[in-house]
This record gives sequence, C-alpha cells and structure tokens, in this order.
Amino acid sequence: MAPLDIEYFGRNADIANGASARRELAENASQPYKFAYARTALKYGLRVRGLVAGDSVLVPDFICESAIEPFDELGIEPLFYPIDPTLRPDWDAARLLIKPSAKALLVAHYFGQPQDICECLRFCEANGLDLIEDNAHGYGATYKGRLLGTFGKIGVSSPRKSFPISNGAYLYLADDVPIDLYELRLQPADSDTLLGKGKSLLRGLAPVAALLRYRRRLAEYRRRVRQSPPPYDSQDAFRSTRMPQDYGMDEANHVFLARQNLAEAADKRRAIYELWLGWAISHGLAPVFPRLSPGAAPLVFPAFAASRESRNDWFIRGHRAGIDMHSWPTLPRVIVEGNGGAMRSWERLVCFPIHQGMDERALESRLTRI
Ligand SMILES: Cc1ncc(COP(=O)(O)O)c(C=O)c1O
Repeated sequence: MAPLDIEYFGRNADIANGASARRELAENASQPYKFAYARTALKYGLRVRGLVAGDSVLVPDFICESAIEPFDELGIEPLFYPIDPTLRPDWDAARLLIKPSAKALLVAHYFGQPQDICECLRFCEANGLDLIEDNAHGYGATYKGRLLGTFGKIGVSSPRKSFPISNGAYLYLADDVPIDLYELRLQPADSDTLLGKGKSLLRGLAPVAALLRYRRRLAEYRRRVRQSPPPYDSQDAFRSTRMPQDYGMDEANHVFLARQNLAEAADKRRAIYELWLGWAISHGLAPVFPRLSPGAAPLVFPAFAASRESRNDWFIRGHRAGIDMHSWPTLPRVIVEGNGGAMRSWERLVCFPIHQGMDERALESRLTRI
C-alpha cells in the first residue's frame, strides 16, 4: 500500500489563501455581510431582526451544537423539533411546540440539499413566524434557480466548509436594515506572528512545500496503518469551546470566494455524489437523499448504516482505505441527554467525503479498495 493522497480523500485540503499576505477584514458595507463563522452570522441576523432574550425559535433537534451558540449567547430559547428520516421537518410536531414567545423557524439545508422552501414559507406564514435558513452546508446551492439562504428573513452560509479557506461565512437579510458590525475582529492566526510569517514564507518555497507534502502523506499513511480512526463514535470528542469574540471574514477569503464558479463547483460535487450513491447502494447503505435536488451543492454524501456497529465498522474501513468517513453532528448536550430520535439518527449516519478537487476516476479506483 502506497502513501495516500489525503488532500483528495480526506478533509484536510490546503488553505488556499496566502497565509503570508497582509490580513484585513473583509469590506462589509452591503449584503451579504461577511463573518468568519456561520454561528456569528446567525447571531447578528437574530439581533438585527430584533430577537431578544426571552424569545424562542423552532430549531431542528438534529443540529450541531455550534449552531445553537448564538441562541445561548442572546438568551433565546431553542424549541427543538424532530426531523423525519429524510431530514425534513416533522411539521406536526413542530406546530405543537409553538408558544407566544416563538418568533421564527430555523430550517437546515442539510448537507447542501435544499429543504422544500415553499413548504417552509407556508408553515411560517400560517403560524406568524420568520423563516431562518441555515445553509451552512450548501454554499452555492440553489432552489428554483435562486441562491439558498435568500428566501428567509435571515439566511446564513459557511463557504469555509466547502472551500479551502481559513474562515468565511455570509449573512443574507430579506430587509435592508442597518446592521452594526463594529465588534468584528480578525481571528488571530499563526501567520500573524513574526515566527509564523517566517514559517509560511518557507512553506511557500516549492522544494520545501514538496518535502512537507511528502512528510504529511507519510505520517498520514502511518497513522492509518497503525492507529485507530478518529473517535467518531463519541459525542464528546469533537465538542468545541465557545468563540471568545465575534470574528469577521478575511478579505483574502472573500476575494478567493468571489473568483469561484459556484455553478461549476456544485456540478462537480453532484457528480461525486452520484458516484458515492451507486457505490453505497451496492454496499447495503441507505442514502439519506436517494435523489438530489437539481440545485443541490452536496457537502458530503450522507447514508444510514443498518446499526451503530456497522456504522463504526465503516469508519474503520474508510480509515484503512485512506477515505475519511465520519459522523455528524456533535449534538447539543440537552439533545444527547434526551437520547431520542436525533441520537438514533446520529448513531447510524455515515458521511462520505466530497471535494471539488477530487478526481472522480481516482475515487472510483479507491472505492474498489474498501
Ligand atoms: C447545520 C450547521 N449550521 C451551522 C453551523 C455553524 O457553522 P460555523 O462552524 O461556520 O459557525 C454548523 C457547523 O458545523 C452546521 O453544521
């Protein structure tokens, strides 16, 4: 077995923006507003819509903890509603949770597959709620030709998850209301120190870069052969600490994103998704989305294994084959403790990687090794 090409099959793509470039905050005079993280974008969106402590928002129970941070920070109560096996809201259950303090419904376009926007808007209209679109997974995805995130009163995306940039998230607002962004700062990075600048200059030299790449591949190869996969079967292993400050997007990242052809990137992602789909069905996995919506921009290929044990077995097989198969999400603690439907979904869900840098033929041949 040769050292593996981790950039294509893992999640560790090289950061695209030059770390040695002078860093500055992205210009933020107009929409979409730019942040380092979607959670911060959501926090500013909630604030600018006038939501305050004591208000509540319907939020899916199958969600990562970081998406809940803004609610905690602002004292807004999340009313967790369940989702069905196709990751669509259970509307009847959601309706029963509505109370006078409920101001909005948040829907997640899981893994870049659009929710049925018309259905969401109908529910919101009937119940006097604002729609919030969490499109953290599907930057560049569209619904009926229009960018996801732009249908709700608030929409957020997190292109840092789909492109190799150090940070980057957008906030879309339906109404052009004044927004106060003076608290945003640049997130400290290694490249800010003199030592960091020296290191990144060295790393930029072609022979040094080649050597580092080789060393990384070798280390990755040894890790895969000798060690166990990352602890994807744990709800605690990847729990992160809160952001200490509200961070803005680096201007270099915004410039990088502005240069991308989003339609082409989504096409490529859908092509890789189809590859995974055929392979997964023939291996007894149940795809979460047997059919992609035409405008989807899939972040990963998600599928359900038959049991928690067989899901864990896929993590091991992927690890050995050099393909990073992983779980999702790190659920809010209260959902883990409730040990209900969201936990049952998490226990069986496997995410298979998609990246527009992937070579489809190479992936096909790699799949034969699993
Ligand atoms: C559905 C969803 N929403 C929001 C977020 C938060 O995004 P960010 O990490 O950019 O703050 C995540 C993070 O993984 C997520 O999965």
